[in-house]
Amino acid sequence: MSDNSLLNRYYHRVNEALHQYIIKLPLKHTSLVQSIEYAVLSGGKRLRPFLVYAVGSMLHVEEVVLDVPAAAIECIHAYSLIHDDLPSMDDDRSRRGHLTCHLKFGEDIAILAGDALQSLAFSILSESPMFGVTPENRISMLSELAGASGVKGMCGGQALDLLMRGDKVTLEELEWVYLHKTGSLIRAAIRLGALTAGDIGLEIIPILDRFANSIGLAFQIQDDILDVINDRKFLRNKFDSDKNFNKSTYPSLAGLANTNIKIQDLYQKAMGELAMLSAKSLNTNLLQRLACFIIEHDI
Ligand code: IPE
Ligand code: IPE
Ligand code: MG
Ligand code: MG
Ligand code: MG
Repeated sequence: MSDNSLLNRYYHRVNEALHQYIIKLPLKHTSLVQSIEYAVLSGGKRLRPFLVYAVGSMLHVEEVVLDVPAAAIECIHAYSLIHDDLPSMDDDRSRRGHLTCHLKFGEDIAILAGDALQSLAFSILSESPMFGVTPENRISMLSELAGASGVKGMCGGQALDLLMRGDKVTLEELEWVYLHKTGSLIRAAIRLGALTAGDIGLEIIPILDRFANSIGLAFQIQDDILDVINDRKFLRNKFDSDKNFNKSTYPSLAGLANTNIKIQDLYQKAMGELAMLSAKSLNTNLLQRLACFIIEHDI
């Protein structure tokens, strides 16, 4: 099967899994559940689920097992986007080609939708059957997801992103923020895929972490570039652009040419880590393909 049809299949699998979890929620006819459905199911590239499937399938884990962490991490991601767009954070008007959740359902409901999605992720990961995953490994997966989402992961990065607005920051500080606000969930997706495989997954986590850090950083830097390009192309209004918060971004600190060099350098590093996995007779084709897509934000 080609990489594209495989990704297409994973896309449908995770969407179906998410749909099944959402339709089982109570209060279906309330704006809370409608806003959850809207935020999760209207669009999105499903990059983090793809990483779960790519690592898990490389280690021969069944897709039906991988559906569980794939859906759980996408719920955390969707929650992070709802909150990221709020007026008190990035104050954005559109997300995935639609109105942001708070503009569609109100800020109060959007906050609760994010909160509920965070809980849903942990319900999914703690309660869904995962044949072949030991209780110890399931706890490691829960701990991984919790750590990656909280102060030492995504929330910590998001907080520093807010706190440093208006400040002159160094590239090193900016990279720290990116590795946390975006890199943490990307690394968690990869680790969750590995943990479903037990010991053989645990063994390669150091290599996978280095791969994840390179593509995670490249992904957020590329997001900055796309924000610059979109600003130029669509003359976005004042609420839609990083620069209106006086926010340092990779291109604003290093210039566009150096930023592109940095992305290529991270890509090469990521490929180097995959070569170490290939040397262990693991098939890294799909991860290579994803790394390519990731640095281009084009899946
Ligand atoms: C957007 O992530 C936020 C960042 C971390 C840069 P994605 O680009 O993965 O968002 P969706 O899920 O495809 O909408
Ligand atoms: C978002 O970063 C990171 C998280 C949601 C954790 P950005 O604020 O740069 O993402 P976009 O540009 O709104 O998608
Ligand atoms: Mg933000
Ligand atoms: Mg944002
Ligand atoms: Mg951005």
